Amino acid sequence: MTSPQDRPLIVVSGATGNIGRSLVGRLLADGAAVRALTRDPARAGLPAAAETVRADLTGTGDLAPLLAGADALFLNLAAGGDAAAVAVLDAAVRAGVRRVVLNSSMAVTGTPADDTHFIARLHAGLERAVRDSGLEWTVVRGGNYATNALAWAPSIRAAGVVREAHPGAQSVPVHEADLADVAAVALLDRTGTHLGRAYVVTGPERMTLAQQVAAIGRATGREIRVEQISEEEAAEAMVGRYLTKEAARELVRMFGATVDAPPFPVSDAVEQVTGRPARTFARWAEDHAADFT
Ligand SMILES: NC(=O)c1ccc[n+]([C@@H]2O[C@H](COP(=O)([O-])OP(=O)(O)OC[C@H]3O[C@@H](n4cnc5c(N)ncnc54)[C@H](OP(=O)(O)O)[C@@H]3O)[C@@H](O)[C@H]2O)c1
Repeated sequence: MTSPQDRPLIVVSGATGNIGRSLVGRLLADGAAVRALTRDPARAGLPAAAETVRADLTGTGDLAPLLAGADALFLNLAAGGDAAAVAVLDAAVRAGVRRVVLNSSMAVTGTPADDTHFIARLHAGLERAVRDSGLEWTVVRGGNYATNALAWAPSIRAAGVVREAHPGAQSVPVHEADLADVAAVALLDRTGTHLGRAYVVTGPERMTLAQQVAAIGRATGREIRVEQISEEEAAEAMVGRYLTKEAARELVRMFGATVDAPPFPVSDAVEQVTGRPARTFARWAEDHAADFT
């Protein structure tokens, strides 16, 4: 950071989430002060060294105290949605925060294609708001998260089975700790190297869903079957608070298109930014073995 302060204060939105939790730990280890935002501090289970603050970002509460005195903000759309993220960004500008690091998606290309599907549209809109905010900015465009595999945990635990419409769908799954490490470097950097950059951040290797299941089997020492289901069944299983049926269908179709499509690019951004290679999915499965047993 350009801050003259020895110990920059970083506000982390979505601090109990996949990336947020990892990021809080990383920032503290790097010597930063952390203000971690969560709707429920009592249940957050974050390190005592972080200042854990109650914040429902979709509520009507005053956002100013959340940003007061901060040097930088890690902004995650998952913490309340896009309108909430824009409100937090505006509050950061008003509070005199100097830098924002945005958690975005590899779906964003910065071309008109971004208007053609909902994930890209959503994240591209927030990227524009960040670029227009006048703050120093870095965007972390994550590829498919390894944590998506956590959706298999209930059926693996209950029946040793994973049900997917496209077991041959390919991606380059990225460990949340790598996304967090890249974000931490961008938040704390004092050289300016990462300003105005949008990094596509993936894992180190392309894998099918079936290969991911096999890696979880090896990490947990259990036999896991893969059962193919229809696209409609898969979409039904994905519908949730933030995902409509239509959006879920679109996602399932997108996964299907990766079975035969040219493979996703493998990015070296983790190594470029952090100086060490991205963690493998096998490593992720070992780190999360307890989630599947
Ligand atoms: N999955 C992928 O493959 C992928 C790929 C690229 C980009 N992305 C993007 O990455 C983001 C997900 O990141 P993640 O996995 O780290 O998120 P996550 O694990 O879902 O965490 C989100 C956190 O936001 C907090 N939150 C939810 N509603 C809130 C509200 N109303 N006010 C304040 N906080 C709220 C929750 O914390 P509390 O319960 O403690 O409040 C939660 O822990 C999404 O925007 C997604 O589009 C995902």
